[in-house]
Amino acid sequence: MTQERDPAFVRFAGIEKKYGRVVAVKPMDLEIPEGSLVTLLGPSGCGKTTLLRMLAGLETPTQGDIYIRGKRINDTPIHKRNLGMIFQNYALFPHKTIFENIAFGLKYRGVSKTDMQKKAEKALETVRLPGVGNRMPSQLSGGQQQRIALARAIVIEPDVLLMDEPLSALDENLREDMRREIDNLQQQLGVTTIFVTHDQREALSMSDKVVVMKDGFIQQQGTPEEVYNNSANHFVADFLGHSNFMVAVVGEKKSPFLEARLADNTLCLVSPAEDFAAGAKAEIVIRAQKMTLGYKTDFTRQAEMNYFFGKIVDRSYMGGEVSYFVELAQGQVLHVINFVKRAPYRRGDEVYIQVDPFHCRLLAP
Ligand SMILES: Nc1ncnc2c1ncn2[C@@H]1O[C@H](COP(=O)(O)OP(=O)(O)OP(=O)(O)O)[C@@H](O)[C@H]1O
Ligand SMILES: [Mg+2]
Repeated sequence: MTQERDPAFVRFAGIEKKYGRVVAVKPMDLEIPEGSLVTLLGPSGCGKTTLLRMLAGLETPTQGDIYIRGKRINDTPIHKRNLGMIFQNYALFPHKTIFENIAFGLKYRGVSKTDMQKKAEKALETVRLPGVGNRMPSQLSGGQQQRIALARAIVIEPDVLLMDEPLSALDENLREDMRREIDNLQQQLGVTTIFVTHDQREALSMSDKVVVMKDGFIQQQGTPEEVYNNSANHFVADFLGHSNFMVAVVGEKKSPFLEARLADNTLCLVSPAEDFAAGAKAEIVIRAQKMTLGYKTDFTRQAEMNYFFGKIVDRSYMGGEVSYFVELAQGQVLHVINFVKRAPYRRGDEVYIQVDPFHCRLLAP
């Protein structure tokens, strides 16, 4: 591939980072398309920050290459990489005014005083905080300070915007507002953005592409719908949303489905995520939201549906939805989430669970 033709705006090629014996990022390839918002999602310690820091030039890769617009940047110093960065703790300079905070990155780019003023004002308007330039950071709320950090990152018109858990210090409601604001702003500016989070809702709600990581390794990457609906493995299915797992043995083909036998001999119809041989051990994954409950006394079987029978052992009201825990005769407890309207069940009620084979995905164990 010639460098000019590289379709990725940012490309990590065989990138690896070791700290002594700790492998923070295992050799991986990753492409960030131009103008997209890509999230790195994964549990604590999986290497998200390390990957960002290597792109930013704050860490040196142990091996591998990083390209921006097809140009290898491994040896490009930090200040020449033209990246906007926002970190978890707002990290505004407390003794500088908001204006000085925003203009900080412009100083080193040889921008004139009047242009600085104009650009900073425009950045403040973009983050919807016009006119606060003369205030000190302490005179703004946490959410406002984070918007200033955003203004400071975009004022330099970066090639790539890097955000490392920028919302984690904010309370839930504010987070949601900010999430939408960052999403809108990113689309408006069209700036290529890498957003780090360990919050799956954050990742699913704002990304063009989600990169799910674990132990320094990419588990799966794809659109939010792909990684959620077609999770590649147990870890991804478990990390995104609420999943139930049932051990099964693969049976015969019942096109378009496959039969799978559970430990208690129940036969289910499932949708295989890959090719399986009859007799192979596998695992059925079912999302908590994809199952519906009914009173056992009202049960009537419909063709091509899967059923489980059990007893409600716990319920929790979540406003709009109710979370149920249903213990099956064989002892496994399934998590079912139903809308309040169709969910009048109480602890101790005998129920059936109905689930479409389409929503029973069969994965390798
Ligand atoms: N400077 C360092 N020296 C030694 N080990 C490090 C260093 N920085 C990170 N690590 C290790 O590398 C691994 C990846 O760390 P990293 O900070 O990239 O994780 P993360 O995905 O950002 O986690 P979190 O969600 O907690 O921020 C961890 O095991 C961490 O302990
Ligand atoms: Mg981190």
